[in-house]
Amino acid sequence: MKITSEELRKKWIEFFKARGHAPISSASLIPENDPTVLFTTAGMHPLVPYLLGQPHPAGKRLCDAQKCVRTGDIDEVGDAAHCTFFEMLGNWSLGDYFKNEMVPWSYEFLTKELGLSSDRLAVTVFMGDDDCPRDDETAALWEKCGIKKENIFYLGKKHNWWGPAGQTGPCGPDTEMFFDTGKPKCSAECSPACDCGKYVEVWNDVFMQFNKNADGSFSPLCQKNVDTGMGLERALMNMQGLSSVYETDVFLPIVKKIEELSGKSSSDAQAVKAIRVVADHIRTATFIIGDERGVTPSNVDQGYILRRLLRRAIRFGSTIGLKFGDYSAVAETVVDKYAEVYPELAVSRAKIKSEIDEEQARFERTLENGIKEFEKLCKFLQTDTIPGKSAFRLYDTYGFPLEMTVEMAKERGFKVDVDGFDAKFKEHREKSHAGAEQRFKGGLADTGELTARLHTATHLMHRALKDVLNDPNVNQRGSNITPERLRFDFSFGRAMTPEEVKAVEDKVNAAIQADVPVTCEEMTVEDAKAQGAVGLFASKYGEMVKVYTMGEYSKEICGGPHAARTSELGHFRIVKEQSSSAGVRRIKAVLE
Ligand code: ALA
Repeated sequence: MKITSEELRKKWIEFFKARGHAPISSASLIPENDPTVLFTTAGMHPLVPYLLGQPHPAGKRLCDAQKCVRTGDIDEVGDAAHCTFFEMLGNWSLGDYFKNEMVPWSYEFLTKELGLSSDRLAVTVFMGDDDCPRDDETAALWEKCGIKKENIFYLGKKHNWWGPAGQTGPCGPDTEMFFDTGKPKCSAECSPACDCGKYVEVWNDVFMQFNKNADGSFSPLCQKNVDTGMGLERALMNMQGLSSVYETDVFLPIVKKIEELSGKSSSDAQAVKAIRVVADHIRTATFIIGDERGVTPSNVDQGYILRRLLRRAIRFGSTIGLKFGDYSAVAETVVDKYAEVYPELAVSRAKIKSEIDEEQARFERTLENGIKEFEKLCKFLQTDTIPGKSAFRLYDTYGFPLEMTVEMAKERGFKVDVDGFDAKFKEHREKSHAGAEQRFKGGLADTGELTARLHTATHLMHRALKDVLNDPNVNQRGSNITPERLRFDFSFGRAMTPEEVKAVEDKVNAAIQADVPVTCEEMTVEDAKAQGAVGLFASKYGEMVKVYTMGEYSKEICGGPHAARTSELGHFRIVKEQSSSAGVRRIKAVLE
């Protein structure tokens, strides 16, 4: 069945809506309270608190298309199916329905909605171990639907267990659905576990019944959940009968743009990898910069991954003749393709363009110095191998991707100690992750009283900033709270004057002294906006949200938690007001 990305997203949502699910918006790509990962990697990730038992305002049945980034396989980008960004279509039961409903629904969606023939479907189920018994129940359900017995495979934890998304959290046995391409079996043992290409994965249903603890053990969850995920790009590739994701409608305009700018064709075997790498990496970079909690290139955390993606794209792009400004032009095509589904991209169009151009300019500047450094290094080298430490220095200080150092070395008859580089890189990444951990520790995951109070103060300050600066562009861009202080990033084009800082402090302290209760109501996002609530963002029509009200002082869409009354906050003081990035200011403030 030929189906476009727009049609597939719509079909998905309609199918689950008709079965009592509330459609929710994609959450940010930047997880708010998970120190163990840098990006949202699956649809369930932003839903972890609800999978663990907290009630979700939209109910017990949810569905969505979630933006995801996974960079673990970055080196494989360029083949037919690896992407660093993808959309995951998902549906959830939060302690509501379970296998009896999910298996027949999956079968119905694949065969009726997507028109896949039952004979061409293969499924896998969990074979059982000490943690969890063999899943005969699911196998029987598949058989009842019409899947042939010989197309049902039992596999172990390696294949049929999903999660957690980070190091700890909800997980469980799963059942995966595969499209059988019709190729002959590569051996008698050939199964969906095999990577010969006969079976292509289309969908994964996880029966989430366990929590993985920090010590590696599993404890049963207080509720049985269903968590499913279908990769949109790969599903389209299968449905459209194509041999790579880059030919599907989501990538087509992006690939065309690169072909036009470079004058090279993706049917040219010499150019195809570079075209795909640029298409993939610029698409991911566009979503990271243009996210509602978007970041810019830097040397730490998400900013570091972004920098690596951009520089890798530029490096590959230079082999097909892409020039200054071409990458931001490709990013514009990405924005155009996705703006209707992800309006945040259109909002940040100018920022996306300028950040990519600036990073290209920065990379090209350091490139020249890096090449000088590289020449010097080669001149004084005593052996035929560039030490890992030096390759890492080129990477870290001059932004040289490793493969570039390897290539340049090869031209001069040298090798590179890649293992040494990897060891240095790992050391650096651990440091940078430790930094991330520090940053997230005590964030809103810590629901202690201190953070709740600072969170309440953040709402009051957000309102006061809007009132004092009297500029419609003043909006939250980021927030981070530890038990000691709040940190708040907001869009505003200049430094605040000392008078303005004082006026904001006075307004917040007046609201604290007024001792008003902090109340919470659930309502649709339209009602929240109609009542003048500030905050989120890309919520869909009819979506239920929580609105926190503090007397006349603040009304904001937010998940909480908060202090019960403003008087609990004590005295509010701004300790610093500084620039965060272009057009974004950062405030640090304390309660004393
Ligand atoms: N969370 C599951 C996955 O990512 C559905 O495959």
